[in-house]
Amino acid sequence: MTSDLTDDLLALKTETDAALAAATDLRAWDSIRIAVLGRNGTLTGLLRDLGKTPAEQRRERGAALNRLKDALNEAIEGRKSALEAAALDERLASERIDPTLPARPRETGLIHPISRTIEEIAAIFGAMGCTIIEGPDVESDWHNFTALNIPEHHPARADHDTFYLPAQDGKPPPVLRTQTSPVQIRTMLTQPPPIRVIVTGRTYRADHDATHSPMFHQCEGLIIDRNLHLGHLKGCLIDFLRTFFGISDLPVRFRSSYFPFTEPSMEVDIGWNRRTGDLGGGGDWLEILGSGMVHPRVLANCGIDPREWQGFAWGMGVERITMLKHGMTDLRPFYESDLRWLRHYGFNPLMPTMLHEGV
Ligand code: DAH
Repeated sequence: MTSDLTDDLLALKTETDAALAAATDLRAWDSIRIAVLGRNGTLTGLLRDLGKTPAEQRRERGAALNRLKDALNEAIEGRKSALEAAALDERLASERIDPTLPARPRETGLIHPISRTIEEIAAIFGAMGCTIIEGPDVESDWHNFTALNIPEHHPARADHDTFYLPAQDGKPPPVLRTQTSPVQIRTMLTQPPPIRVIVTGRTYRADHDATHSPMFHQCEGLIIDRNLHLGHLKGCLIDFLRTFFGISDLPVRFRSSYFPFTEPSMEVDIGWNRRTGDLGGGGDWLEILGSGMVHPRVLANCGIDPREWQGFAWGMGVERITMLKHGMTDLRPFYESDLRWLRHYGFNPLMPTMLHEGV
């Protein structure tokens, strides 16, 4: 098609082809297009000059220019398509996604099951108007025992497998608190009734096997008000246990018991199936916490008049209710910092405890 072009036109075609071949991107390509076909382009100039061609040559020159124009258009458009296809290939290669690779979620820390249970306890009792408080791990003998109506030489002291610290100033030796109950005493000594508090924290007893650790956690509750009776205690704990375990008809049984600091005292059992370990039905009972009406002597020890104020209290093991809720059988991994266990039983920190969604 271009074989019958005059030399000058053929030269333009050859030159343009070479420039197009050298253009490696669309920007370079576009400047060639403008240089040839643009308003001041070479071909445009040649077409404009056609009028100056002597009349006898004009027809032939015009026809040749038209053929050149077609050939150039074709070459320029062809190069554009090639460059666009190459650019697309390059993008596809650089943005390639391999859908067969397993997704790799971002590493985030997880909430330890003990912390999670404490958050849940705080959410439930918080909704009942309780404040969460803490107390010291090293306690005086008086706060841990005597003020709680466990006098010296009382057999209840022997049950606690207490860790004693060296005695000072002739006073009874301080202890690593064996229960969170001394924080009841600290609260009543510093806060006038009515009182609604929850205590969570570490407790210590010299005991170690699959279900006992020398350090463990307890959660304690103390409510002091006027005209309180056993019905309040029962309603409060039934509501807590059903919300915490997420079983709205969880059977709850109150069984008469003994604690020096409550009168009457009750142990609280929940229904479960001993064979399968399932909570709820099954007809068996599992002891879950201790409770009772605060002993008048304990109120009096803290300067609260038991004729005007009554109280109820309870205490439970945080590890124990955590293990039951999540079907864990061994207590020891709670403190072993084994990342595989923590990843399995840990909780997503972005999913906080929400009472209205059920804890
Ligand atoms: N302190 C008790 C224990 O460690 C648990 C307990 C029982 C706490 C009855 C209480 C209560 O506040 O009223 O075994």
